[in-house]
Amino acid sequence: MTQSTDGALCSVPKHVAIIMDGNGRWAKERGFPRLEGHRQGAERAREVVEWAADAGVKQISLYAFSTENWDRPKAEVRGLMAILATLLPRELSRMHKNGVRLLTLGDISLLPERAQKAVEKACYKTRENRRIDLILCLNYGGQQEIIDGVKRVFHWACEQSDSLAAIESIDAMQFRSFLWRNELLPVDLLIRTGGELRISNFHLWDAAYAELFFSDTFWPDYSKGEFNQTIADYTSRERRFGLTSEQVTDE
Ligand code: IPE
Ligand code: IPE
Ligand code: MG
Repeated sequence: MTQSTDGALCSVPKHVAIIMDGNGRWAKERGFPRLEGHRQGAERAREVVEWAADAGVKQISLYAFSTENWDRPKAEVRGLMAILATLLPRELSRMHKNGVRLLTLGDISLLPERAQKAVEKACYKTRENRRIDLILCLNYGGQQEIIDGVKRVFHWACEQSDSLAAIESIDAMQFRSFLWRNELLPVDLLIRTGGELRISNFHLWDAAYAELFFSDTFWPDYSKGEFNQTIADYTSRERRFGLTSEQVTDE
């Protein structure tokens, strides 16, 4: 048993975030174009939401496109956006039936119109669903989110009678309210596939106390067995949040 982010004992992470990496190398190993890797990766993304829901996870964030990914070759960016625009409408009724609420994280106004419309439509149709939240991170960057938060704090402070005192009073919880998507829970478990040992600008604030898992598996090969094993490993970790082991155990 481990301590959840709200202090209660729990065995399943409430919020799992995944850096789905390794699509390109998966394709290269097989002599396929990189986009084939992304297509296969999109299938795993669809499946992992079901695996997570079955395990009792309440929110799953999938890093689909970072603010840095715009600098990839134009054809790859176009292809990624096309996969999104094609796959989402195709999967919408299944997602809806399975109780998935789609949310986005990141500035989707910069996506091509077709992709943007597909995302908006799916979010709207699934808005009442409560089994699991799928947070699709599109044009997402953790630094961008924090910069945006600082700007919002500034605007808010300007409207207060004593602006300096207002800024001085801000604590971590209040600052979080200026970031994107207030309904997000802190990330309990952060998984990165593809063998790289880095965060790549993902959930910089919300993953402050996340348990980290790195897998060498390329994302298109990621399996339900590996996911469930990671959830099981997570439950055997002791999350201390700065306390001593004895304090956590006594609680
Ligand atoms: C992750 O796979 C998917 C996106 C970033 C969109 P990559 O495309 O980064 O795959 P590798 O790292 O080149 O293998
Ligand atoms: C992170 O993967 C972004 C996504 C999975 C969407 P990258 O492949 O872009 O990350 P780096 O460049 O290896 O750090
Ligand atoms: Mg990569």
